[in-house]
Amino acid sequence: MPPMRLLLRGLPVRSRKMSEAPGHDDRFAMLRCPETGLPVELRGRALATADGSHIYPINEAGIVLMGACSLPVDAARQQAHYDQLAPLYLENLGYPHTQEYSAYLDRALFEALEGCSLDTVAEICCGQADGLALLGDRIRTGVGVDISANMLAAAAGRPGMSRHLFVQGDATRLSIADSTFDTVLMLGGIHHVNDRDALFGEIARILKPGGCFVFREPVSDFWLWRAIRAVIYRISPHLDHETERPLLWRETAPPLERAGLRLERWRTYGFFGFCLLMNSDVLVFNRLFRFIPGIRAIARLATRIDDWTTRLPGLRRAGLSVIARARRP
Ligand SMILES: C[S@@+](CC[C@H](N)C(=O)[O-])C[C@H]1O[C@@H](n2cnc3c(N)ncnc32)[C@H](O)[C@@H]1O
Repeated sequence: MPPMRLLLRGLPVRSRKMSEAPGHDDRFAMLRCPETGLPVELRGRALATADGSHIYPINEAGIVLMGACSLPVDAARQQAHYDQLAPLYLENLGYPHTQEYSAYLDRALFEALEGCSLDTVAEICCGQADGLALLGDRIRTGVGVDISANMLAAAAGRPGMSRHLFVQGDATRLSIADSTFDTVLMLGGIHHVNDRDALFGEIARILKPGGCFVFREPVSDFWLWRAIRAVIYRISPHLDHETERPLLWRETAPPLERAGLRLERWRTYGFFGFCLLMNSDVLVFNRLFRFIPGIRAIARLATRIDDWTTRLPGLRRAGLSVIARARRP
């Protein structure tokens, strides 16, 4: 007789591992050859199309390498940039003040996700997969896509990530089947992709009808941030002004609509507090804030002041970061 915990009203219940974390084969069924759109199947340590014309290796970190085909210029630059930058990028997010400010932004992200199913979730331009990590067990099946294998290796090595699938590939040519995901997340990825029509078209394609596209991105609708970023993006070795373009409302809402996505929410966050406490990759002096006694409490106070500021009439679109939700009807 099967153990009692596997019985529910007389029917055998699959263990959590089997029912909630599909085996690798199930997850590979969501993938497509980025060049032909054909399904791929597992062959040894690679995925291949049935005719064997396209073969994609799986590296030692378990990442499916589907980004080797001819990449758009932007994507190739970003790949080189982030493959080199990965260790520093990850370190900068670990200071106490950046953590406190990020926690505030994470709470706002949860608000934006209300009403979205998290059964199947893709994080595009996932980097170290902060989105998948944040949502944790709420997600049944997760896929992270990024152009940088080094960033993906950091993602795959995090605790709890082994049940998700990580794929190296370009966001404007996703190696994912149509209508696969309930929710697509992008956290700081859209502004790296100049061809927004192609990007949003791909997101609409991989979303199920009724699915949510939730993103958190730098936004420069306020003149002051536009001016500061115009300078910083040029002088910082960590930023690439040719491939990174913070969002503007007028450059985001129309391509979302053209892609068939309906914008439901657009709320901006972050003002002077964000400016000072985040961006430790660019504002090198800000790394020293970690030695200030009570820096966590100061950062929390800054989030409250920024939150109040970005709710003032006339400043609602003036924050440094936007958290938005669009839906495929
Ligand atoms: C600013 S990082 C954000 C990473 C992560 N989402 C986070 O919140 O920390 C931008 C990421 O986008 C990736 N990326 C840039 N262009 C891409 C493209 N065309 N396709 C896929 N990933 C891309 C980079 O490799 C990098 O990991």
